[in-house]
Amino acid sequence: MNNNKVSFRVFPSATLRGVARVPGDKSISHRSIMLGSIAEGVTHVTGFLQAEDCLATMNAFRAMGVTIEGPTHNGEVTVHGVGMHGLQAPKEPLYLGNSGTSMRLLSGLLAGQSFDVELTGDASLTRRPMKRVTEPLRQMGAVIKTSPTGTAPLKIRGGGTLEGIHYDMPVASAQVKSCLLLAGLYADRETSVTEPAPTRDHTERMLEGFGYPVRREGNRITVRSGGRLQGADIDVPSDISSAAFFMVGAAIAKDADVTLQHVGVNPTRTGVIEILKLMGANIEVLNERVVGGEPVADIRIRSSQLKGIQIPEELVPLAIDEFPVLFIAATCATGETRLSGAEELRVKESDRIQVMADGLQSLGVHAIATPDGMVIQPNAIKGGTVDSHGDHRIAMAFSIAALRASGPIYIQDCENVNTSFPSFVSLAQGLGLKITVRTE
Ligand code: S3P
Repeated sequence: MNNNKVSFRVFPSATLRGVARVPGDKSISHRSIMLGSIAEGVTHVTGFLQAEDCLATMNAFRAMGVTIEGPTHNGEVTVHGVGMHGLQAPKEPLYLGNSGTSMRLLSGLLAGQSFDVELTGDASLTRRPMKRVTEPLRQMGAVIKTSPTGTAPLKIRGGGTLEGIHYDMPVASAQVKSCLLLAGLYADRETSVTEPAPTRDHTERMLEGFGYPVRREGNRITVRSGGRLQGADIDVPSDISSAAFFMVGAAIAKDADVTLQHVGVNPTRTGVIEILKLMGANIEVLNERVVGGEPVADIRIRSSQLKGIQIPEELVPLAIDEFPVLFIAATCATGETRLSGAEELRVKESDRIQVMADGLQSLGVHAIATPDGMVIQPNAIKGGTVDSHGDHRIAMAFSIAALRASGPIYIQDCENVNTSFPSFVSLAQGLGLKITVRTE
């Protein structure tokens, strides 16, 4: 947990150039610890994201008796799996900081254990909706107490039995899907989920990588209990959600040529590339290869004249974390950009529709929040002050906006950049962004 107030000051500049490798994928890093812990034998992870969210997951499993070595400075982690039934009761509530992924996936994995456990988090996490996982888990027979409004802390009673169910997910959410599949490993018979639209499939891929059968039929995914996971080697690709800041940065900067190496390009994550291509970005996906069951590529982006678009709704779940920075791209395009069907943005680490609209307006941009999206007119970006509301992706998105601003942008409440991308400032400086940090 951070007590210091961190703010960024970013000065206008036109250049973004170089070759960079952004840190490991957050979603895959979380899952490597979770599945490695309940596997038999040893799991070696390389490229693990050493950021607060994933370290919260790591600490939770350590508190449940799992021996985990690392992470070393280059992201090597060794997990000594305890098997499906080897986790032990933690002595204290598990504190998961800002991490929605930790809380939602763990609620499923822990609902079928023999011990009680309590999951807590920071102010943002304890405001986020948890009924989306507790309701289907209760249908499976889990006993979970929440706050009166259905939020964390989650008190999960162990020792019961779970029944497999079929769940038609009302929202396209990889966290809900993963929660139920993990609970399904411990439930009687089969558990299946149907997704209203494809969402990131790292849980399914990694279960298969650990030798656990997963049945995928169209938009329905099924697991059957009684199987075992076998420890595996996991090479975590760079996080496309972190790479996205520099993709947009290079597209909007006047003098830009950036290559991002070893980026995860799983088709359930590449909405940002599709959207930037529709906007006319000069973007190339190079050296595509498969590493440890996940597609990886190098991505080259150069200065581009972007055009405004109506963002296709089917791309929303495939770019769900990238909208803060895509709104910056829209500001620098010619013509209006419209986003709809993205009401999920209102329940992320902050209300990303309102917080981005407020921040853009304070920089002189004509951005109108709608219930499920945003309408953005192309605008000159002025200097000014924006409040990131403790949301890492808002802080990084407004840093990128300085590449087209007429004055410095001062961004408040940036400490949570450490939850997903602790090296953001140094990496951005290396590519030419004129960013400084102030800690009070
Ligand atoms: C994640 C799923 C997404 C995403 C989050 C990570 C995951 O959340 O926004 O950053 O690792 O499964 P939802 O499932 O709520 O859309």
